[in-house]
Amino acid sequence: MPRSSSRSLSSSGMSATSPAAQQHHAQRVALVTGAGGGIGRAIALALARDGLQVIALGRHADKLAATRALVEAGGGVCSAIVGDLRHSAWHAELAARAPRIDVVVHNATSFPVYGNLEEVPSNQFDEVHETVVLGPARICAHLLPAMRAAQFGRIVFVGSIAGTNGARRQAAYSSAKAALHGLVRSLALETARDGITVNLVEPGVVMTERVLEAIPEATRQALVANTPMGRPGRAEEIAEAVAFLASDKASYITGATLPVTGGLGLGLFPPTMG
Ligand SMILES: NC(=O)c1ccc[n+]([C@@H]2O[C@H](COP(=O)([O-])OP(=O)(O)OC[C@H]3O[C@@H](n4cnc5c(N)ncnc54)[C@H](OP(=O)(O)O)[C@@H]3O)[C@@H](O)[C@H]2O)c1
Repeated sequence: MPRSSSRSLSSSGMSATSPAAQQHHAQRVALVTGAGGGIGRAIALALARDGLQVIALGRHADKLAATRALVEAGGGVCSAIVGDLRHSAWHAELAARAPRIDVVVHNATSFPVYGNLEEVPSNQFDEVHETVVLGPARICAHLLPAMRAAQFGRIVFVGSIAGTNGARRQAAYSSAKAALHGLVRSLALETARDGITVNLVEPGVVMTERVLEAIPEATRQALVANTPMGRPGRAEEIAEAVAFLASDKASYITGATLPVTGGLGLGLFPPTMG
């Protein structure tokens, strides 16, 4: 484990003993990766609202602390783990030290430079696959034995419509998101008799800080214009889909891909063609 991750993991609050944490000890526990902002923060808030204890994971303590404060302001319970999904040495420790994890939402992603494949540095190609596919798969491998023993688990991946449809200037990102189709369906098959469901939510366009920074304005406008509903999604709308799949209401859904896109990607002719 990198030194910073080790220190952070050991001071993460996973064994929190605050009155609120004790009061909620029987609640389900959800690990949400990339929970320090954007869609991940909205997911953390939605799960906490639904009564789950949240463990927020990301690389920056300050961002996770802000999420934690928002969850607690709403009466929820949240702890934080600072960790980098690309570094696998602490994944086993995560499983060993978490008192219990019933729900895992793999939301974190890195974003390679927005450009054609030959413009993307190979380390960024590796980084997005490690963050989106390899790290989450390894974490699942560590958490699954306890979920099987409990005969309960909810695993939700946040992919992207780019993983289904492909996207120009996003080959590294799209290929990592596409790999989630195989991972989700295979895991769903492997866990179907154990009370565990594994599903994939694919957002369309949500104007998070990251999107505003990484995608040129003209491209953003074109994406919205080509979204049949004519507007971007809200982080909360993605979070509601995740919260549903994480709930008992979705007990008979596994191996599914749920687009939450306002219709983006449907049909042969985009709306801008008239
Ligand atoms: N916004 C959209 O339009 C859109 C569209 C389709 C799909 N999505 C998907 O929705 C999810 C959330 O996206 P977003 O727009 O909310 O972006 P975001 O705010 O940048 O969320 C990504 C999160 O992942 C964390 N992260 C990145 N690398 C990590 C690593 N190596 N280890 C641990 N955490 C890491 C980041 O936090 P730190 O930097 O603090 O670690 C960040 O909080 C992503 O899976 C994205 O692909 C978004």
